Amino acid sequence: MPVTQQETSSTAPSKVFIKTYGCQMNVYDSDRMGEVLSERGYVTTQTAEDADLVILNTCHIREKAAEKVYSELGRLRRLKSRSEHDMKIAVAGCVAQAEGEEIVRRAPVVDLVFGPQTYHRLPDLLDRHGETGAAVIETELPVDEKFEALDTPAAKPVKRGVAAFLTVQEGCDKFCTFCVVPYTRGAEFSRPAGRILAEARKLVDAGVREITLLGQNVNAWHGEGLAGHAWSLGHLLNALSDIDGLERLRYTTSHPRDMDDELIAAHGSNPKLMPYLHLPVQSGSDRILKAMNRKHTAGEYIDLVGRIRGARPDIAMSSDFIVGFPGETDADFAATMDLVRQVTYAQAFSFKYSPRPGTPASTDADQVPEDVKAERLAQLQSLLTAQQAAFNEACTGRVLDVLLEKPGRQTGQLIGRSPYLQSVFIESGGNCIGDTVKVAIESVGPNSLTGHMVEA
Ligand code: 5AD
Ligand code: SF4
Repeated sequence: MPVTQQETSSTAPSKVFIKTYGCQMNVYDSDRMGEVLSERGYVTTQTAEDADLVILNTCHIREKAAEKVYSELGRLRRLKSRSEHDMKIAVAGCVAQAEGEEIVRRAPVVDLVFGPQTYHRLPDLLDRHGETGAAVIETELPVDEKFEALDTPAAKPVKRGVAAFLTVQEGCDKFCTFCVVPYTRGAEFSRPAGRILAEARKLVDAGVREITLLGQNVNAWHGEGLAGHAWSLGHLLNALSDIDGLERLRYTTSHPRDMDDELIAAHGSNPKLMPYLHLPVQSGSDRILKAMNRKHTAGEYIDLVGRIRGARPDIAMSSDFIVGFPGETDADFAATMDLVRQVTYAQAFSFKYSPRPGTPASTDADQVPEDVKAERLAQLQSLLTAQQAAFNEACTGRVLDVLLEKPGRQTGQLIGRSPYLQSVFIESGGNCIGDTVKVAIESVGPNSLTGHMVEA
């Protein structure tokens, strides 16, 4: 039986600091780790210095992730040796999943190693560590068990702001040849609709107004609806939008192959679904898309964007790009630049290809030299930055609905989000955090808009 906080109050750690690397799914997971630990009496703290338990929730998607973790562990080792209390150190997330025992071998200061699908067992892992003092390593992939364990009626959302994440789907069966996710997060799994609706209602009761549904392949989500019918993500979004008090919905990250008609139609018919879509394409070259195992062509992606814009003409498109994938020629790269010019993005992320251990592309003999990758990345980023600036500029003079999320640095300043996910700064006499207000956009910076409230 697990030991309660009461029984261990003289020795058990009580403050936890969680440092999150990488994607929004890790942000969500860190929040849920905080919840699991709060049931054990832990409170979260904002610095490692005063923490009894430090968790590094790590990311393995691109290069240097593991090295960053090891250097942070070096810093924590020094901190621990100076510290008066017994600080426990844990490595969680995808580096933990990928590296397993290697972490403890290289950094003996680590007490716990657990992957993204085992953090619900945290109290048990702490107990096991407490019993022997030996490092505990837990890297199974029991994703259904995790959500089963997390979805207890008692589990309350801890410290949520106006906008929150909600994981509805995990894992990936797509096996793009550059990507570690299918290995670190495991097979695709969809949470049941009823559980998702219940979690969303809890979040709204806790003051959340905007929910972003998360999944590595979120639009592959499918489930049995309440009346036993099969639901797709579009149907789930429509069901969620019936929750009173929930004002905005978003979802990320999607795969082009899983954008079905119901989801596209929801963009036209569901006013709570925000006009912003992150739909990674990675490359504009059919040859490279095939080598990446993306399972679609550039033309199919462009047609898809056309259908999405047909449903919601003002939608802001976003994407991920990889330059310098093995075998990428100048002509392949030119095809990517062409695709970007045709689609026009409001925002995008672009990366140099980085060989990830264990993925098929990493052993390809045809690796692209670093300087070529750097040159292509610079060209692509300059085009994407110009498109982002043009999208933002076109908002000047418009009145946008802004959900106010938090105070700004200056007195009286509030920061919110536009429907297109831009940060918007306003001056406000009152505290209207959590309200959606109409804002006339006056000026535009590289990453944000500024305006004034025209109507509450
Ligand atoms: N190298 C570079 N970028 C990568 N991504 C995933 N794996 C790699 C890799 N090996 C990028 C993809 C993905 C985003 C989350 O990270 O663009 O969509
Ligand atoms: Fe990785 Fe491809 Fe799956 Fe996205 S779809 S998580 S890039 S394997």
